[in-house]
Amino acid sequence: MESILPFLSRLSRRRFLGTAGATTLAMAARPPSAEAAAEPAQKVALTVNGRRHALDIDPRVTLLDALRENLALTGTKKGCDQGQCGACTVIVNGRRINSCLTLAVLHDGDEVTTIEGLGRPGALHPMQQAFIAHDGYQCGYCTPGQICSAVAMLDEIRAGMPSHVTADLNAPQLVSDEELRERMSGNICRCAGYPNIIAAIKDAGGAAI
Ligand code: FES
Ligand code: FES
Repeated sequence: MESILPFLSRLSRRRFLGTAGATTLAMAARPPSAEAAAEPAQKVALTVNGRRHALDIDPRVTLLDALRENLALTGTKKGCDQGQCGACTVIVNGRRINSCLTLAVLHDGDEVTTIEGLGRPGALHPMQQAFIAHDGYQCGYCTPGQICSAVAMLDEIRAGMPSHVTADLNAPQLVSDEELRERMSGNICRCAGYPNIIAAIKDAGGAAI
């Protein structure tokens, strides 16, 4: 087979970059394929923060995007969009999940609680109050996910659900700071507010932990 190297050596760097740039622009300008555009909408009913919503939605839309883009509930944040940071944590049927890792159409009939549903100015959830009292945030981007995760995590402890590092399976309610960190390890804080976050969780947890 004839080698491409002699051709490349004759092609100047400027000409090569120009050709590559034109190709990229042409690809970007191309309309979406008929297959992608033809995906039919599906109906899904979500109860979010106690309010029922009937949506006609592209089945490829994540729960995170449905909350933010369709329902304008932008308190839930998009950090990595691939299940690594926890910024998108919401509570679905009582359990915390990463809303970027699931499709909205999979939650027909489900009850979703976002940060907006936990409390509001003047009537904050105890966990929200504790985060304020203990400076459990700096930039605040991870905070809605941290708070939703912490609320559901305390419910897990109250229900006697052990973690990977529970010392005594007969007493899963006895949790150390290390175990709290393990239980919250799916929520990353780039500002490294972890000591204050743990202090806030212990404060809000009270006798539960
Ligand atoms: Fe969902 Fe990062 S945005 S885990
Ligand atoms: Fe900034 Fe957590 S407060 S990422």
